[in-house]
Amino acid sequence: MRYGYFDDDAKEYVITRPDTPQSWSNYLGSTEYGAIITNHAGGYGFYRSGARGRFLRLNFNSIPRDQPGRYFYLRDAESGDYWSASWQPVGKPLGPGQFQSTCRHGTGYTTIESRYAGIASEATYFVPLGQSFEYWRLRLSNESTRRRRISVFSFCEFTNQWDTFQDRVNLQYSLFIVRGELDDGLLRIAIQDNLPSGWEPSLGDVARHCWLALVGAPLSGYDSSREAFLGPYRSYHNPLAVEAGRCTGSQAYGDNACGSLQADLSLEPGERRELLVLLGIGEARTAGRRTLAEYGSAARAEAELQRLKDVWHGRLGSLWVETPDDALNHTVNVWGPYNCLITFAWSRAASLVYNGERDGLGFRDSVQDILGVTAAIPEEAQVRLELMLTGQLANGGAMPVLRPFEHQPGQEVGPDPSQYRSDDCLWFFNAVPDLVAETGEIAFYEKVLPYADKGQDTVLGHLRRALEFNLARTGAHGLPCGLYADWNDCLRLGYQGESLFVAFQLRLGLGVYAEIASRLGQADEADWALAQREVLDERIQAVAWDGDWFIWAIGEDGTVYGTRQATEGQVYLNTQVWAVISGAATPEQAGRCMHTVHERLATPYGLMLCAPPFVNTAVDVMRAVVFSPGVKENAGIFNHTQGWAVMAECLLGHGDRAYDYYRASMPAAYNDRAEVRESEPYVQGQTTYSAYSPRAGVTRTPWLTGAAAWAYHSATHYILGLRPELDGLRIDPCIPRGWPGFKATRRFRGSTIQIEVKNPDGVCRGVRSLTLNGETLPGNWIPAQGLSVADEVEAVLG
Ligand code: GLC
Repeated sequence: MRYGYFDDDAKEYVITRPDTPQSWSNYLGSTEYGAIITNHAGGYGFYRSGARGRFLRLNFNSIPRDQPGRYFYLRDAESGDYWSASWQPVGKPLGPGQFQSTCRHGTGYTTIESRYAGIASEATYFVPLGQSFEYWRLRLSNESTRRRRISVFSFCEFTNQWDTFQDRVNLQYSLFIVRGELDDGLLRIAIQDNLPSGWEPSLGDVARHCWLALVGAPLSGYDSSREAFLGPYRSYHNPLAVEAGRCTGSQAYGDNACGSLQADLSLEPGERRELLVLLGIGEARTAGRRTLAEYGSAARAEAELQRLKDVWHGRLGSLWVETPDDALNHTVNVWGPYNCLITFAWSRAASLVYNGERDGLGFRDSVQDILGVTAAIPEEAQVRLELMLTGQLANGGAMPVLRPFEHQPGQEVGPDPSQYRSDDCLWFFNAVPDLVAETGEIAFYEKVLPYADKGQDTVLGHLRRALEFNLARTGAHGLPCGLYADWNDCLRLGYQGESLFVAFQLRLGLGVYAEIASRLGQADEADWALAQREVLDERIQAVAWDGDWFIWAIGEDGTVYGTRQATEGQVYLNTQVWAVISGAATPEQAGRCMHTVHERLATPYGLMLCAPPFVNTAVDVMRAVVFSPGVKENAGIFNHTQGWAVMAECLLGHGDRAYDYYRASMPAAYNDRAEVRESEPYVQGQTTYSAYSPRAGVTRTPWLTGAAAWAYHSATHYILGLRPELDGLRIDPCIPRGWPGFKATRRFRGSTIQIEVKNPDGVCRGVRSLTLNGETLPGNWIPAQGLSVADEVEAVLG
């Protein structure tokens, strides 16, 4: 079933059937003022933190799962009939001649167009760049042949406390601290109004304010009490005030506050009207009034929307491709990078699933997220990378979570040693060289940055400590300990148990470090790292190969996981693909283990994390057993890992298989059968249920997942093979044999490079000839110093 289509020129996904399997969401705003909105205008808003700065409420995990939201109710004064400009929450019957609606999710804005009973509406929601308020712009037109009297009611529901847990749980307190009133034409919502104003999400007893204003029509009524507007036995789909045709003028005083402003309009046939609702945080009497004076006009709203689009479209402009696969084009050109930018902004903190329990930047996830945005926003990526480097402790380990607005390098206290994750800082060996390859600024390695707890070092020094951390924590076989967990949160090896995954990460890290050190002229350092790598290689080869695949891990008690004798979790994806990525696998092992992956883990929806699932394994050994078979870490398709398999296959030159894997887990490839995933076909989801479950293909936890960065990275750097390196751009595609080639435009070091890759012989990989502006180059590499501001590259495979 198809619910919509990709409009790449507008950089929008257009939902043409509102009754999507679930509400499909989008993000508005910035890390200062964030908002989630669905195709039904459901969603919530938050200042800095979804956990501690929540000012618009959402009833999580309800049906529908996105209520309430930012609603416009429209009511015909003659008939008394009323509907929503966003279909839900009133939910009129859908179909030709009945309610019709289209939602355009764009870059930082969402527009919902509807048609019902001769009235067309267009509601556009966005947060202007750098601002702490949002616009809801409503355009109405009378498409009928008679004059119509239409009342418009806005609605949103405020939290009583910005700390979302307090708001939802501590009712004996939170129901008694909110007030709402009309103040000089603005709706003023105040929490703890007798106290001095405060902003920081971490502050406790302070006053917090929101405001709401209407522009474009006289205010005919208002409600600030949720209970008065909805009525005691009603809900969002049939508010009493809307049914009655007038707000009650209620003042919230305890209980719950809402934002309803009413406008009564009279529309001649063909007449159009435009209204604006402005909703912001801050004191209505100051911030609200000021904002309204400056931004409260249709012209300003339109200019702000345009500016927002320009900036976002610029961010997405680092790469544009034309391949034979439209779904891949939508993904690489628009939705892949957009997903990465959103994930980069919000880590795992705020979505329709993440309800605030993960606040701040999870260390390992956030370092990986950087990979998805280095080409789009290198400066911001560098700022984030530096922040994460200052989340590293002087012993080389990391703080598991970093709170960006409160983080104080040099003064943080590290976690209890039992809480160290073994993989955290090893992700720097992916993210740091990737950024330096994008910018070409090798001096970054010499930049001095503090550690989280004490002391400071160059970036290279930070990398050295990261290696030392794992080299110093080894188990009985000399391999790195898994500690509290490695990438896999479910792994419980005992603190001294050994993780093969981390061994492979460490191997990669040592090689990367050696390369950087020799580029910086530090030959001793390079020798040290290579010598360590040799020792590690021997240790890996001594225990890790099981005949057709690599084992997972060795528990503290000596149990070996992931062997052919095991009945559960016999084959583990990560150690196969990372053996290849890290170069630890011999060519023979690489071929065989990836063959095993294909035989044992491949499904039409992607690769399972392991197989068979855990059912009888003890929970203190493998926490994945808490999940049903075929779900998440228990033999589910963990989308985070799919890009790694794509990279591994590309490194082996298997373009067809890499592409098959990519397509199996590419959301856009499911656009015509979106009911299979149920989630948005334009964004990644963390988990896809595998064939071990009765719900194979169902995908959950959209947007905020490591799948975003790795899918984008593997497609752009490996399948398309456009790989920045310190000295230039490597052109090393690994594509399906059947592709005649592809075109790409890549922004790189001040140039816009037009690239054409031709594949006359139908191969997967191997550049036969390469030209830069007509001049033949040796190999498959474009030197950065040969670039100007606009360049042309032609690569012929064969
Ligand atoms: C979740 C976590 C991530 C972890 C993964 C596998 O995606 O956010 O940190 O690596 O699960 O357990």
